[in-house]
Amino acid sequence: MKKDFLEVSDFSTEEINEVFDLTEKMKKNPLEYSSSLRFKTLAMIFEKPSLRTRTTFDVGIQQLGGFSLYLSPNEINLGKRESVYDVAKNLERMVDAIMVRTFGHDIVLDMARFARIPIINGLTDYEHPCQALGDFFTIREIKGNLKGLKITYVGDGNNVCHSLLSAAALLGAHMWVATPRGYEPNLKAYLKATEIAKETGSVIEITNDPKEAVRNADVVYTDVWASMGQESEAEKRKKIFAPYQVNSSLFGLAKSDAIFMHCLPAHRGEEVTDDVIDSPNSVVFQEAENRLHIQKAIMFKLMKTS
Ligand code: CP
Ligand code: NVA
Repeated sequence: MKKDFLEVSDFSTEEINEVFDLTEKMKKNPLEYSSSLRFKTLAMIFEKPSLRTRTTFDVGIQQLGGFSLYLSPNEINLGKRESVYDVAKNLERMVDAIMVRTFGHDIVLDMARFARIPIINGLTDYEHPCQALGDFFTIREIKGNLKGLKITYVGDGNNVCHSLLSAAALLGAHMWVATPRGYEPNLKAYLKATEIAKETGSVIEITNDPKEAVRNADVVYTDVWASMGQESEAEKRKKIFAPYQVNSSLFGLAKSDAIFMHCLPAHRGEEVTDDVIDSPNSVVFQEAENRLHIQKAIMFKLMKTS
């Protein structure tokens, strides 16, 4: 049975911990794994821009002995030039797995249903699961454990926020989310996280008060106020989200050893100020690097056949 990675909750707590352990080993001894996916090919479909996702999947598959193929929006034009079904039925005969970055989450769900090969979500409007696993791996690397930590996300209740919620719940971390009214995480994503949290003992809190959320936090996380595809709302959102900016006064409410995280790209001076993102507490570049290591472990888990 092929396995996909479309949402964080496609993996169990145990599977995530296995991926983390493998990530640690791959990061420490990359050469040991240099033939793990020999001759395997990953197609990368991008319908939105990318620096980190494209680079880390591309470099990652090559470091495992495989190849990648970049398919830009102009080439594929998913669902317009050709149906998602036809794209899936073609590619499954040519490559060993497909990473997709697109708009509607339904597109990756359909792709996974149609293709006989693993599909990896490289960001949709609903989830960014590789990001969240890399982020929690980073937190584990720095803090030593995840259970019981207070992780606070401030800003828009978006794709990254949804994936972080699931990951926190699965890993037993407490997650606070502070958003402006009307920009809370999607109800389905919130309910899924609270359901999982009942099993793992994690606490999920959604509030409109950024100060309450950041107070005594171990991790403060933010993301852009207008995601890719929401550019026309950017100006309106700047006013609404201003009280949710992670600046030194808000970040100062967190624990003294709190870390600052951001999936990047950052809009400096909007959701985060330079003094926070450039401070010694900021781990944003370690976080970005870990996308490489975590995705190598994810590809290994999904693509390794023997
Ligand atoms: N964080 C992240 O996914 O970055 P890119 O959009 O550059 O891939
Ligand atoms: N929420 C952002 C994340 C970018 C990595 C977006 O979707 O544009």
